[in-house]
Amino acid sequence: SWTMPNYIDVAVAKIREQVGSDEVILGLSGGVDSSVAAALIHRAIGNQLTCVFVDNGLLRLNEGKQVMATFAEHLGVKVIHVDASAQFMGHLAGVTDPEAKRKIIGREFVEVFQAESAKLPSAKWLAQGTIYPDVIESAGAKTGKAHTIKSHHNVGGLPETMKLSLLEPLRELFKDEVRELGVALGLAPELVYRHPFPGPGLGVRILGEVKQEYADLLRFADAIFIEELRAAVDEKTGKNWYELTSQAFVVFLPVKSVGVMGDGRTYDYVVALRAVVTSDFMTAKWAELPYDLLGKVSNRIINEVKGINRVVYDVSGKPPATIEWE
Ligand code: XMP
Repeated sequence: SWTMPNYIDVAVAKIREQVGSDEVILGLSGGVDSSVAAALIHRAIGNQLTCVFVDNGLLRLNEGKQVMATFAEHLGVKVIHVDASAQFMGHLAGVTDPEAKRKIIGREFVEVFQAESAKLPSAKWLAQGTIYPDVIESAGAKTGKAHTIKSHHNVGGLPETMKLSLLEPLRELFKDEVRELGVALGLAPELVYRHPFPGPGLGVRILGEVKQEYADLLRFADAIFIEELRAAVDEKTGKNWYELTSQAFVVFLPVKSVGVMGDGRTYDYVVALRAVVTSDFMTAKWAELPYDLLGKVSNRIINEVKGINRVVYDVSGKPPATIEWE
């Protein structure tokens, strides 16, 4: 049996032995796995690590700022921040099919990432936050056992043309171990215990065509929902509703409905709140959020986000619905 500080020492020694004095590149998404991988590798080799953070325009409110604050400012990690939102938005224009959108977002990520890595020709290693369940899942995919309902193009997929060796220091760890490791490495618990966020980001939470206007409205609405979930504490458990749910987010519906505001009639967009409880994300129950919490979130979104005048709550289980709407 091992303790976390022991584990860090062993993992650090192993990384140093593997890469020697080589340079390493890592695609930092802001998610738990790539963040913990970055913190661990940085602990091992410091400035031999360069992270690339791609802003695809489909991230949550202030996500880019938070990633830079945590890694560049707080931990002193070398991070290249690429604002590629115009490129992603351009390629997504006119595309409505969910799988087509996933493919475009995955493809553009690879393109941007490759272009950035080309600027670091001395790099010999590509680091990824692959964890043990990913290893199992892709083994299943290769043998045809995994039944693909949605193609997952995660940040960090290795482009075959890149002649880099893979560095995957989290390959043997389960998610809860990765989180523990992250905390032991000094990452904030709010980062380490974040809900999962899909690789295509808000791209699959805006139904149909992705537009800048929709992404901006969604970002504000989603930030309000998450803020209120974190602020609302359940008396029975003493936990807040962000902790009591496994995943929670807002979905943008590109339809308009009529409302009334003051003396005037409004004709604005609708958003849906989605919150689920699950242990494995294969099946999920909709979360029984308190009515006063739902009411507060709805009021705040309608009052604070100009362009949205109606909020609905998704009460569909998985199956038959999926967690994401696309
Ligand atoms: P569904 O919607 O299939 O989601 O019930 C199950 C879990 O997978 C996440 N998800 C994705 N993650 N790329 C990802 O990295 C994707 O394209 C993708 N689609 C769904 C979803 O957020 C949930 O946690």
